[in-house]
Amino acid sequence: MNQKEFQFMLAPLEDYSDNAFRTLCHCHGADLTFTEMGRVEGLARNNKATWAKIEIKDATPVQVQLLAGREDQLEKFLGKFKPFEGFKGFNLNLSCSSPNVIRQGRGCAMIKRISKTARLISIVQKFGHPVSVKIRLGTNEFEKRHKVYLNLIKSVEPDFFVVHVRTGEQTNENEPDYSVLPECVETGKTIIANGNIDSAEKIELMRKIGVGGVMIGRAAIKNPAIFDSLKGKNVPPIGEIKKEYLALGEKFNAPLKYRNNISQCMDF
Ligand SMILES: Cc1cc2nc3c(=O)[nH]c(=O)nc-3n(C[C@H](O)[C@H](O)[C@H](O)COP(=O)(O)O)c2cc1C
Repeated sequence: MNQKEFQFMLAPLEDYSDNAFRTLCHCHGADLTFTEMGRVEGLARNNKATWAKIEIKDATPVQVQLLAGREDQLEKFLGKFKPFEGFKGFNLNLSCSSPNVIRQGRGCAMIKRISKTARLISIVQKFGHPVSVKIRLGTNEFEKRHKVYLNLIKSVEPDFFVVHVRTGEQTNENEPDYSVLPECVETGKTIIANGNIDSAEKIELMRKIGVGGVMIGRAAIKNPAIFDSLKGKNVPPIGEIKKEYLALGEKFNAPLKYRNNISQCMDF
């Protein structure tokens, strides 16, 4: 990633961010996109449905998001993986807040597991791939107060961190806490801010704080051209964008569930 240029990224969105949607957002200003989460165990044992989640069909810049647990499984998967055109590396999901995932010590429960996270990062790097990490502020308020996110950011060396500024027990209805971002930036690491970023004012604030870019999720489902819009460019009406999406859905043979999910949101 060019560290100087402010980056606009499309968030990983399960059941939404397939190839068609990622390409649509890239055509409308997303500099980097992410696949939805693929479980490493499923990939390692060649589960077809899991591989379909991370399949890349064109040159749209994308990081493949992984929910990793066991180091040997990650090695096994990476041994099989061949980079595609558009492949920009892997993103480790340390932000998933599903109770099942947390119970297994994965997703956002990994934020305090520094040695394990460091090992997973170094395995990806050993295979020669770029790697980023997406985190929350901890699983709960207690961990947030003890700044587990800051400890992790200081201790491990991926290419960049995406910081979703909520804890695992918070939902997207809770206010994001941008006040943690300056201390994250002060570590000298590249920080991408995530959580309700949807306006020029917030981009201005993020630039002032000094983050390297922003990641946008739900606002992009409603308006995939939000990236260009926040870059100050003119964008086509939503009806035009919806037509583009439907054409891309045909081209990439997008699953019906994804097409329905996205079309419904764009109707808002
Ligand atoms: C429908 C949906 C699916 C999501 N799937 C994933 C996922 O697969 N991996 C992940 O790291 N985050 C996932 N997230 C979280 C988003 O990437 C993002 O962190 C969150 O929505 C906050 O950003 P926003 O306020 O811009 O939407 C998902 C969120 C939504 C709403």
